[in-house]
Amino acid sequence: MAHRSLLPLNSVIITVKDMARKFIAALTDSTVFLREWLANPQRTGAVAPSSPQLAAAMARWLPNNPESYVLELGPGTGAVTTALLKRGLREDRLVAIEHNENLAKLLQKKFPHAHIIAGDAWQLDELLRNNSIPIASVGAVISSLPLLNFPKEEAAALATKIRNILEPRGRWVQYSYQIVKDRSRGGDDFRLVASQLVWLNLPPARVSVYQK
Ligand SMILES: C[S@@+](CC[C@H](N)C(=O)[O-])C[C@H]1O[C@@H](n2cnc3c(N)ncnc32)[C@H](O)[C@@H]1O
Repeated sequence: MAHRSLLPLNSVIITVKDMARKFIAALTDSTVFLREWLANPQRTGAVAPSSPQLAAAMARWLPNNPESYVLELGPGTGAVTTALLKRGLREDRLVAIEHNENLAKLLQKKFPHAHIIAGDAWQLDELLRNNSIPIASVGAVISSLPLLNFPKEEAAALATKIRNILEPRGRWVQYSYQIVKDRSRGGDDFRLVASQLVWLNLPPARVSVYQK
């Protein structure tokens, strides 16, 4: 009898431990993010990782084909990456390009089966070609790059590379903090298929979804 009454207490302890572990992990990611932002605010583009709500709004747009690769640009500490995997993306189908070497190392530890590339998203064609498994096309590009911090011509040059790497019905999902406009920088030559405002993020963000 006494043994049985211990069971609920055990599960409460496990739940509390799990909550504490998640809280500490979130705190660690926020600290790392803030440190990288202080070192390079322009390139880091945000003071904190995306909220679970923003990450989930990005992850909704996974390709239908589970064999397709998904290219993540600017994964940071992996907030959106986590949401993509939670939504069903196979870790070995994820390719992520992160410019910040500290963050890329952290991501490789967190997601050991993913293809984490420390490099510049603007070199995505070359980086994917030279990957351990060369990747010719992807079913979706999920980008958190702070495009507003880059000149329009650079955003357009990146958009061309994204267009070239996408499968015919592939999607480019981009968030930005420019909440009043439906389209993020660089998206002019794409068809806008969805645009969603996410208030629960610091700051609120807009997710724009494009198809070529
Ligand atoms: C706004 S943060 C987003 C981080 C994360 N995806 C999130 O939503 O919490 C932008 C990220 O893009 C990365 N980044 C900036 N310029 C880049 C570039 N040229 N190539 C690859 N990553 C870049 C930054 O290092 C940073 O991690």
